[in-house]
Amino acid sequence: MGSSPLLILIVLSLSVSSYARLTTTYYAKSCPQFAQIVREAAVNKQTATPTTAAGTLRLFFHDCMVTGCDGSLLVASSATNKAERDADMNINLPGDAFDLITRAKAILELTCPGVVSCSDILAQATRDLIKLVGGPFYEVRLGRKDALFSKATDVDGKLPTQEMTMEQIFALFASRGFSIEELVALIGSHTIGFSHCKEFANRIYNNSLTSDVDPTLNPEFAKGLKKLCANYRTDNSMAAFNDVVTPGTFDNMYYQNLKRGLGLLTIDQKLLIDPKTRPFAERFAANQTDFFQVFSRSIEKLSRLDVKIGNKGEIRHRCDAFNTKQI
Ligand code: HEM
Ligand SMILES: *[C@@H]1O[C@H](CO)[C@@H](O)[C@H](O)[C@H]1NC(C)=O
Ligand SMILES: *[C@@H]1O[C@H](CO)[C@@H](O)[C@H](O)[C@H]1NC(C)=O
Repeated sequence: MGSSPLLILIVLSLSVSSYARLTTTYYAKSCPQFAQIVREAAVNKQTATPTTAAGTLRLFFHDCMVTGCDGSLLVASSATNKAERDADMNINLPGDAFDLITRAKAILELTCPGVVSCSDILAQATRDLIKLVGGPFYEVRLGRKDALFSKATDVDGKLPTQEMTMEQIFALFASRGFSIEELVALIGSHTIGFSHCKEFANRIYNNSLTSDVDPTLNPEFAKGLKKLCANYRTDNSMAAFNDVVTPGTFDNMYYQNLKRGLGLLTIDQKLLIDPKTRPFAERFAANQTDFFQVFSRSIEKLSRLDVKIGNKGEIRHRCDAFNTKQI
């Protein structure tokens, strides 16, 4: 009775295969300059454009959740293919994040041509930038190949939206192997970066029949946001810091803010309201070491989602195009 040991062995090796085949030393022989080149490109870009870290982190998240961490989001659309990048959910991803990957790739192609994948550059650059702006260091396992396809329609339902209920968001992340604790830690990424006014306008204008402003929002903060966003319908570039207290630093201030009604997005404030997420938000607000440990583990897990290895992918020559023109 029961499953055969051989079957168990096969299932086990399937489930750990991508983990096992990615290694921290993947480019040690084939491109020993890999880490230094990516780090220098990241530092230079972040120094010139401080919004790069948040933009790159969100780009990485959106790439990994849709068909895996395979650089499919870096590909440009063509006459015959609308790529992931042009899906509505990805329209606001900042050009500077894409530009960083393009620059790092250009230097790597001169140093070690045809060796380093765009998806590995994105994974490594994201880690370097998190560390650079004050966040935790974690090891990045390497050896991803780049996707052979990128379709805008693949994005549908794969990324969380603010219209989803918490239960729908839990289910989405659970389907990718994340616990609620890991989900709460990952959203802590909102400790850096921006959100456009339209993403939180419903909290400051016309919130309900009885109140213009969401009652869970700090009134002074709401006043400031109303002023900032006054013209958001005509000027859609207006945006606010996700973490109003320490906007450029990766720390646990995001969770502390929630306790003072300083969460910007509905999803942020919900972390403190929902009984399933609240204990974790409280824990991370009280202890940054705790947050960093869970965040590191969670983003490492994110960075291994559906990675392509062997002939499942290619080493792209340019990150914005497949090596072979697709028809
Ligand atoms: C789970 C529910 C989540 C929702 C509903 C959500 C939603 C959003 C929205 C609406 C924005 C503003 C985008 C804009 O206006 O340009 C944003 C920004 C951002 N999100 Fe999330 N997010 C979620 C989780 C995550 C996770 C898990 C990560 C990272 C692992 C992340 C990383 C970021 C970053 C870094 C920014 C700032 C981007 C920038 O400054 O360019 N988010 N998010
Ligand atoms: C507020 O909502 C009401 C009812 O939905 C609508 O009639 C009104 O035009 C809205 N006002 C603004 C300023 O959006
Ligand atoms: C904070 O969390 C870390 C990691 O879980 C733990 O080792 C440490 O004891 C905690 N510190 C406090 C003050 O609770």
